Amino acid sequence: MHQHGPDTPETHYEDVAVTGGAGFVGRHLVTALSRLSRKITVVDHAPLPPGLAELPGVSHVRADLRDYGETLLALRSADAVFHLAGNASGTESVADPRRDFHLNALATCNVGNACLELGVRRLVYLSSAIVYGTPLRSPIHEDHPTRPFLPYGASKLSGELTLRSLHATAGLPVVTGRSFVVYGPGEDPRRAGGEVSQFLRWHLNEQPIPVVGDIDRKRRDFIHVEDLCRALITLADRGADGETYNLGTGTAVSMRELAAEVGTATGRSALLDADPSSLADSFTLLADTTRLRGLGFAPRTTLAEGLTHLAGLLGRFPELPTARAVFRRETPARRSLEARTC
Ligand SMILES: NC(=O)c1ccc[n+]([C@@H]2O[C@H](COP(=O)([O-])OP(=O)(O)OC[C@H]3O[C@@H](n4cnc5c(N)ncnc54)[C@H](O)[C@@H]3O)[C@@H](O)[C@H]2O)c1
Repeated sequence: MHQHGPDTPETHYEDVAVTGGAGFVGRHLVTALSRLSRKITVVDHAPLPPGLAELPGVSHVRADLRDYGETLLALRSADAVFHLAGNASGTESVADPRRDFHLNALATCNVGNACLELGVRRLVYLSSAIVYGTPLRSPIHEDHPTRPFLPYGASKLSGELTLRSLHATAGLPVVTGRSFVVYGPGEDPRRAGGEVSQFLRWHLNEQPIPVVGDIDRKRRDFIHVEDLCRALITLADRGADGETYNLGTGTAVSMRELAAEVGTATGRSALLDADPSSLADSFTLLADTTRLRGLGFAPRTTLAEGLTHLAGLLGRFPELPTARAVFRRETPARRSLEARTC
């Protein structure tokens, strides 16, 4: 028996599929859905992480969503689909934009079309605030222009536009959430670029925290992964068809402030090692959450609570992050141009 507060999701879908359910956000969503006692199919080309298969109602279909036949088979029994699978790394999208486009745009088109063919009652698509590009205003409302500057942003926006077009032309019951910066347990330090776990990992190794950009102008809206998953379930329950919702907390934190919070959470002041040579992402990325709050949703985990909990889980000397923020790719054309101009 669950206690339902005003913003507690009350999902009414019997058979739910979570694409990308073996990933960082996906495994938290699968865990949250399993507490709501639903049948959950994880659709992912990666194996299930330890513990997930043992959760009540959870099964795994190994499928590659770039293949339409595999997508149709994997989703065939679902009432509702949460589409999280894809490339989540801006840096990887810069290195290999074609792969990024296939994983985010083509696979999303396959999922949307399969949902139409199969008569799925609700599709929730997890997009990203990356689609806004460099913000013109703050906080960012959902109607803010979308001008992504990374291939990752372009491919996520292509996914959004495709699903919206299927809504307009064929009535696809899709709701899109644009997540701001997610953090929480289970991020892969080799791939994840989120500052919260990166800062903690450097600091727990007793090392200065490297940060690219201006530590005061670079401000982010950090949402705990469990709040993000509650927001996604809220979208499935109460989001409007064809609508887009920002998924954030509505609070911006600068890199300097984040370092101070890391110091408070660990009881030892944190040192920043700032590299101002690239200011490409030194801006405020803050969600206007009015629309999401209108569905009765409010975040529950404060940054201080989330940091303290994560620091406890990571312990002393966790694996150091190796993910880097890369905004430019070395191409043969540019290399030879630079060689000629030297
Ligand atoms: N992590 C963040 O900070 C963040 C922020 C905004 C939006 N998002 C979005 O959330 C989603 C999940 O992000 P994440 O951090 O959990 O990423 P992740 O890389 O941890 O998980 C993605 C999962 O998708 C699976 N996958 C990828 N392509 C697939 C395919 N073609 N077929 C089947 N499975 C496939 C992978 O195996 C992986 O398990 C992504 O769509 C990302 O764009 C993430």
